Parts: sequence; structure tokens; C-alpha cells
Amino acid sequence: MPGWWDSAVVYEIYPRSFQDSNGDGVGDLPGIASRLPYLEWLGVDAVWLAPIYASPLADFGYDVSDHTAVAPEYGTLADLDALLEDAHGRGIRVLLDLVVSHTSIEHPWFRDRPDFYVWADGPEPPNNWIASFGGPAWSRDPRSGRLYLHSFYPEQPDLDWRNPELREAMAGVVRFWRERGVDGFRVDAVDRMVKDLALRDDPVTSEPFPLPLHADLTGLDLIHSRDAPEIGVALGTLREAAGEAPLIGEVYLPVERVIPYLDSFDAVFGFELLHAEWDAEQLAAAIVRSQSAGAIAWVTSNHDFPRVATRWGERNARAAAVLLLTLGGSAFVYMGEEIGMADGPGGDPPLDRFDRDRCRHPMQWESEPDGGFSTGEPWLPLVDPEVRSVADQRDEPDSILSLFRNLIAVRREIDGQPERLDAPAGVLAFRRGEHLIAINTADRPAPLPLAGELLLESVAGALQPDGDGRRLAANAAVVLRAG
Ligand code: NOJ
Ligand code: CA
Repeated sequence: MPGWWDSAVVYEIYPRSFQDSNGDGVGDLPGIASRLPYLEWLGVDAVWLAPIYASPLADFGYDVSDHTAVAPEYGTLADLDALLEDAHGRGIRVLLDLVVSHTSIEHPWFRDRPDFYVWADGPEPPNNWIASFGGPAWSRDPRSGRLYLHSFYPEQPDLDWRNPELREAMAGVVRFWRERGVDGFRVDAVDRMVKDLALRDDPVTSEPFPLPLHADLTGLDLIHSRDAPEIGVALGTLREAAGEAPLIGEVYLPVERVIPYLDSFDAVFGFELLHAEWDAEQLAAAIVRSQSAGAIAWVTSNHDFPRVATRWGERNARAAAVLLLTLGGSAFVYMGEEIGMADGPGGDPPLDRFDRDRCRHPMQWESEPDGGFSTGEPWLPLVDPEVRSVADQRDEPDSILSLFRNLIAVRREIDGQPERLDAPAGVLAFRRGEHLIAINTADRPAPLPLAGELLLESVAGALQPDGDGRRLAANAAVVLRAG
């Protein structure tokens, strides 16, 4: 179903780290609301809020203990209502994060509705399934003595989507937020909703999984511990409850296995691009493969993986922005990428046991030591606000922030599916309608055999005269309009 999300720019907000309004060092909903003018200026179509629900924070909000309550440190339902109203008044839509495959172990359901979860009995786990963050996917509940399944941390027991009453309960959650005016959902860990009913072992394999996994999971063919063929009923429940609101799925599977999810969802994230090397051929292959599945939400960083400047190198961050924002489909921009933030230090000890603190440091608004994030002690330290901040870059035409803003404006004029063009080694070039996009992934300039008027360059001087033709500077990218 085509809709506003098809080519939307969605800005991911990690609520703890965006803006604190009350000096407790933790970002919150009023803080987010106070930054809406910035997001409007930047030109994004929507924001996705990582979980804002009540949570004991074993997985920083992805362990939900009440699906229809706002965590007190983030504010109240009234704050969310105010945020929705203000955002809508500015033409910005709001997506919530729907955590459907598991709850917190402290969710009342775990005690009151054990039939909502997946259990096994016996002295040993019933199979070899491994949790995404390592270790067995089964833990013993000290109260009942039974084993419960958890695809992630032991504090996150998996829900049983085969139970119609669970399906109805979660549909109620979706309707609750829709009725409050939420515009859509990023749906967490969708491939973990339904597993093999017979709990068969994941077979051993020597074939590598195409996406990075915890070391404990490599060597297993992950066919039974996730993505069971009966997934359609679970997805259909969400589809029906969401009505026309978009559902963007986090499906962490090889591309050929995401196709059934697109029967019910509006798009799925293209993780193969996020994990590709910064190399024209590898990027092109990831893009073509992802597109073969259907509607893709492009993403080059989020709160789980190293940031672009860290993964692909600071020198490539601008060209990577051009890539993200010129592909057909929606584009998800993780907060802080627009000012070129790199990962910060990991916590010591890490707050997140999987060491994802590095990409979750607070947003840098001002070039002061506190970055304008909080007047109190931030929950994670700031990385380098004196080096990069919104304040420093906003009126600077050559900044990466200005590049993001210009790209968001230019992309509105770009239409059509990308078609790869011949280009020298290291250059990824494609055409979308009358627009030509060229990205030099190499550390040396390359001749650019494309004619067209320059609409945007990733850095001043990206396009240079070269004899009778032109060349593209090292690590640079351009958008042209074909003559
Ligand atoms: C994916 C989320 O992005 C991640 O942060 C979380 O730990 C897992 N799903 C489990 O909910
Ligand atoms: Ca706060």
C-alpha cells in the first residue's frame, strides 16, 4: 500500500540521549518536544522514538513492563500527547517502537498470564537455541522451576504468538497508541515472534549467515529458533490492528527470508547495506539484493551498531549521507549522524552488557562541555561537543549538517527506482529518473563520465574539471541533473 512513508526521511531518536529537560541527566519527552523546531528545520518527515515505555532497563527499554505507560523518567502520557500535537502541527509524524517478540520479566503478564510465554520442562533446555546476545535461549524461572524461552537477555522472556489471547492483547496495545494519534510503528525483532512448534534444534552449518551475529550463534543454521513458517498469522494481527498506519519491520534475516514479512508490513530495514563494506561493488550488491525483496527502509546506523563515521570512516561520512538519502525508499537517519558523530567510549563497566553504549552517547547541541544536552550529570558522557555540535554547524554552509539538510530538500525532487550506471572502479553511480548520483568510495579521485548539472556535492570541490571532462574527488559524492 503506497503512502507517506514510502520515501519518508525518518529521524531515529534514542530518547535517553536526545534532550533532557529537567536536569536528571536522562533525555525525556518534553526535551524531545523542545527540539521539534530543529527537526522541522532539518526537514524530516517523521521521527521514530526508540521505546519510551515503562521498563526496568535490562535492555534499555526493549524490556517493556507496561506497553501502555510512559516510563516515568521520560514523562507522562500527557507529555506524549503534547509531543504528538506539536509534531503534527509541524508536519512531522511520530512512529513508536513496538516491542512484540518479548516483554520484561517484570511485566505482570509473566506471572499472571504464563500462557502468554513459551515454556519447557526438564533438567536441560529442550534444544540448542542460542540467545542473540549469547548463551542459551532458555533460563529457569526460579518461582515455577520451569524453563522459559528468551531470544535476547534472560530478562526478556519471549511471547507465544500462537496464543490467540496474546495476539488480541497486543492488538489492543497497537490500537491504544493509534487512538492517541501515533502515526505508525517500527516493529522490533519481528523474526523472533514465532519459532518452531516442535522446538527442533538449529542444525549445524558451515555456511556463514550474511549479517553479523554473536559468536555463539555462528555455525548454526538459524531456521528453527526464529522465522517459523506460521509467522503470517502474527503479522496479520499487527496489520489489522495498525490499520493504515505503517509498520516498518526489524527483520534480521538474509534478504530472501524477509519477503513473507512484506506481505503484512509496509517496509523492512535493509540491514545488508548497513553491514556492507564501504566499497562500491559491495554496496551495490547489498542494495540490489535488498531491493529484490520489495519495500526497503534504508538504514546506515542505529542505536545497536557502530555509527557511520566509526564503521565506514569519518572521511566517508558525507558520501554515506548522500547514499542513504538518495536511494529509493524511506531513509532512517539516526540522531547525531547529521553532525557527523562517531562512536564514543564504551562504558566501564558497560551499561549495556552487549557494549552498545558506544553509539548511544547524548546528542551534541551546543559546543560546550555539556553539549546543551542536560544541566545535570548525563547518563552517558558526551563524546566531543566542542568538535561537533548543531550550534557550530547550523549556519555553516559547508558543514555535514547543512549537507543533510540540503539532501533532504533535494531528495524530494528525485523520483524513480535506482538503475546502476557504468562508472570507474570505486565509484557507485546510479540514475533515478533525470537524476544521477555518483559516490566515490575510494581514497583517490576518479574520472566521472556523467554529464549533467551539479545539484549537490558532499563537500565543496567534489566535482572538479579534468581535461575535457570532470572528476569526482576522493571520498566524495554528487547529485547531478541529466542534461
Ligand atoms: C532490536 C533493538 O534495536 C535492540 O536494541 C534490542 O536489544 C533488541 N531488538 C531486543 O529487543
Ligand atoms: Ca530528564
